[in-house]
Amino acid sequence: MKKTIIITGGAGFIGSHVVRLFVNKYPEYQIVNLDALTYAGNLENLTDVANCPNYTFVKADITDYEAISAVFSQYKPDGVIHLAAESHVDRSITDPFAFIRTNVMGTCNLLHVAKELWKGQMEGKRFYHISTDEVYGALEKDGTFFVETTKYDPHSPYSASKSSSDHFVRAYHDTYGMPVVISNCSNNYGSHHFPEKLIPLAINNIKHNRPIPIYGKGENIRDWLFVDDHARAIDVIFHTGKDGDTYNIGGNNEWTNIDLIRLLCSIMDRKLGRAEGESAKLITYVTDRAGHDLRYAIDSSKLQRELGWKPSLQFEEGLEKTVDWYLANEAWVDRITSGAYQQYYEKQYTNR
Ligand code: NAD
Ligand code: TYD
Repeated sequence: MKKTIIITGGAGFIGSHVVRLFVNKYPEYQIVNLDALTYAGNLENLTDVANCPNYTFVKADITDYEAISAVFSQYKPDGVIHLAAESHVDRSITDPFAFIRTNVMGTCNLLHVAKELWKGQMEGKRFYHISTDEVYGALEKDGTFFVETTKYDPHSPYSASKSSSDHFVRAYHDTYGMPVVISNCSNNYGSHHFPEKLIPLAINNIKHNRPIPIYGKGENIRDWLFVDDHARAIDVIFHTGKDGDTYNIGGNNEWTNIDLIRLLCSIMDRKLGRAEGESAKLITYVTDRAGHDLRYAIDSSKLQRELGWKPSLQFEEGLEKTVDWYLANEAWVDRITSGAYQQYYEKQYTNR
């Protein structure tokens, strides 16, 4: 069936994988990638689909109600998959208001514009909000997991802003009958991950023989999911998730930061032809992150049971693939560190 879907944040890490999947898998859909191209947006993530006839890029900021309204009037989407966000916890500690603007106000703008467009004809429409497990707060090392009914208990400005946006999405469902669905996912890893996040940062630092900063004692635990598995879950939930429902997505793959980094160091030693143990000498313990959540772990059994999704890769295999991608795409990282990636839009999309 023909559909127009606006994917927000499609130039970012997860968004670019979702755009690629939808453009390739659904040639009958028109996919509109709506992204403001902040520091985290990189259109070079999507060069392989940029010329596909069912793909359009629109530069717009979700905090700008008028601009979003104009885009929705022009494209009249049947569906929205909303990934655009400020996503880095450390940045939220230094600049919480950027997170409030984009994650809270931006989400509310999208909800309201979609509600106005779909007023009186919600049938067949869907607003899918992509969220995080961080809204649930922190777990002890006690073997419990986040389930969909776990009480929200955010600690960082990032997770507080994502929690707030989740509440607004549910409020638009309950108040206006908006056809919404939400998913809360654990930490993603894979290709095109901006090199300020733990795994790509460590890969880049190891390659250049620079210190690998480990916050605190490295005992914090995260549940890592390969980004393509997240994109597949988004596809399944967008098409078959129940209206008004929430689905947790996770890798069932818990690692302390220090064990993860030791595994990464040993993969890098092998790939770079270094003696075993060489890269691990770069591990450097630094001051802990303020309010650092101890453990995240997702129970994704509802998604597996009801919609038939499951993660496809073992972590060692996914991490090795990720390292291979970064080593084969050094120019991608170099263009981010030099800032050159930010000129791509002007060169490709405007005649300047
Ligand atoms: P990212 O930071 O890599 O990308 C965010 C994208 O949103 C960028 O392309 C950026 O240009 C765009 N954007 C930011 N502000 C915007 C604005 N005001 N208007 C329009 N576009 C804007 O983020 P990511 O890691 O790909 O995360 C995507 C979504 O998934 C986020 O909503 C995040 O909360 C959620 N999530 C991420 C993870 C993870 O591990 N990365 C895990 C669970 C959920
Ligand atoms: P990050 O990739 O920022 O994701 P999140 O904070 O959303 O979980 O961090 C993953 C874990 O790694 C988190 O426990 C913080 C830690 N960390 C470090 O120890 N050193 C670093 O340089 C970074 C960026 C993160």
